[in-house]
Amino acid sequence: MEDLDVNITIIDRAGVEHQIAAPTDMAMNLMEVVRSYELAEEGTIGVCGGMAMCASCQCYVLSETDLPEMQDDEEAMLSEAFDVKDNSRLGCQIQITAEMEGLVVELAPES
Ligand code: FES
Repeated sequence: MEDLDVNITIIDRAGVEHQIAAPTDMAMNLMEVVRSYELAEEGTIGVCGGMAMCASCQCYVLSETDLPEMQDDEEAMLSEAFDVKDNSRLGCQIQITAEMEGLVVELAPES
């Protein structure tokens, strides 16, 4: 059977690195993966439910992984968020796909 998981690394807010397998066949986004593995405290991530309206799912992309381009609502939210860097993305706007094998992200501080 085909392997439908990609291996990604998520560095949590305490700086701890987690190697996890994320499913590509469940229409999950990165924020939901972080929640399902409980890598951030309940209520501190995914606050808006993945609507690009809270920035609680902000993360920094540390690998060279090709990610889908930012849409306007993600860009707009990030322009108002705290601790934004050049490599900031909203986890809820990143759908997990097979191209994301080897992705490394760090969760932005809680704001
Ligand atoms: S969960 Fe609110 S912006 Fe991503």
